[in-house]
Amino acid sequence: MKKCAELVLRRYGDHRSPMALVRSYGCQQNVNDGEKIMGMLSEMGFGFTDDVNAADVILYNTCAVRENAEKKVFGFVGELSHCKARNENLLVGLCGCMAQQEHISAKIKKSYPQVDFVFGTHALYRFPEIFCKALTEHQRIFDIENSDGIIAEGIPVRRLGKIQASLPIMYGCNNFCTYCVVPLVRGRERSRSSKDVLQEAREIVAAGYREIMLLGQNVNSYGKDLDNDLSFPELLRAVNDIPGDFRIRFMTSHPKDCTKELIDAVAECNKICNHIHLPVQSGSDRILKLMNRHYTTEEYFSLIDYAREKIPDVMFSSDIIVGFPGETHEDFLETINLVQKVRYASLFTFIYSKRVGTKAASMEDPVSASEKSKWFQELLDVQRKITDELYRDCVGRTYRVLVERTGDHDDYLLAGRTENNIIIDFEGDPSLVGEFAMVEIVSANNRSVRGKLVNE
Ligand code: 5AD
Ligand code: SF4
Repeated sequence: MKKCAELVLRRYGDHRSPMALVRSYGCQQNVNDGEKIMGMLSEMGFGFTDDVNAADVILYNTCAVRENAEKKVFGFVGELSHCKARNENLLVGLCGCMAQQEHISAKIKKSYPQVDFVFGTHALYRFPEIFCKALTEHQRIFDIENSDGIIAEGIPVRRLGKIQASLPIMYGCNNFCTYCVVPLVRGRERSRSSKDVLQEAREIVAAGYREIMLLGQNVNSYGKDLDNDLSFPELLRAVNDIPGDFRIRFMTSHPKDCTKELIDAVAECNKICNHIHLPVQSGSDRILKLMNRHYTTEEYFSLIDYAREKIPDVMFSSDIIVGFPGETHEDFLETINLVQKVRYASLFTFIYSKRVGTKAASMEDPVSASEKSKWFQELLDVQRKITDELYRDCVGRTYRVLVERTGDHDDYLLAGRTENNIIIDFEGDPSLVGEFAMVEIVSANNRSVRGKLVNE
């Protein structure tokens, strides 16, 4: 890092701090990777900007989970040729899940000369070395080597928020859901030692954060690759034992590995939020099998029932894919059925997107895009109605919320998040941001919830 800082100084001089723009797309894991890249750049002497015209280095930290995300990045990168023409010192880099794929790297090499360096998720910890090369060598760098098995500790992090902090507990994924590119771009599961996770959790609490989000593609299999270390429910309990007034959330929980032990931990630990994100993907057992999900809807329902019985006021959210190859209208109606039965507070819904290298990419996919859009819209309508009903049932109740931000146009319009993940808009002093407050819900309409401060 020191050598890099010297090279940065040599290239940009010492009359001003060089500026970097880092844009991260996709999931929280990727956003956390972006925070690490910013941490490293900061140690090399960079400041940060959102303005492409003010940046000396532009880095897109990309997502590969759906085609749309990839298209957007190609669009942004395409536009950068103007910036390159204006500023010959500008360095442009591409990293993250999309960059890890060979066919993407080849496309960049061939058609996007404005990109100076490309590195994949596996090379994150080698960023200083790659960046040093980009600063000194007059050739483009493509580093998408697979380095499965390595966990690099001690990378500096420049967290974007001041209230919530994400904390990766593991990397990669072993599940091979047939639609998903993640195992191909992030490699096999690697858990961090509980000692390292707990150390970072203590640092986060000491730095004044009010919420820790434990991250992994499948947190329920945490520790299975380690000898003599904690299981995920045990890790949760250990984080809960750290003194301080803060909340714990986690994602993502794969239903096939979600146990009663986990639900008991959520129920018994006062800092763990009573909100569970449990992606079901489909309500049809036939499709779940084709997706390689390893659970049935019946098993899923029994988890939901157990959680409802044990955790007061628990709310659920989920991910659902509409239009998986071979999905029929009957399968889709089963998904609608499941959504109505579970009554999620919120849903992340996606139309199936074909991904290179996945098993589903070679499956027959006869349903038209317009038919899939119709189903998608129907699902949104059903979910909107449920969310509105659930929120309306909360009117008159008082919740402890974590105050997250002031309104976009009005500093005195605050937003607070309840433990079970409802966002309440209310009026209050901006000094409350980052604190806990008691708020009564006074109305709920169109997925928007209004409240008023209550004196404790
Ligand atoms: N097409 C559409 N949605 C996908 N997801 C993952 N892969 C695909 C794909 N190929 C969704 C899943 C996952 C979420 C993060 O993204 O629902 O849970
Ligand atoms: Fe995107 Fe998935 Fe990679 Fe996250 S892990 S950045 S969602 S492809």
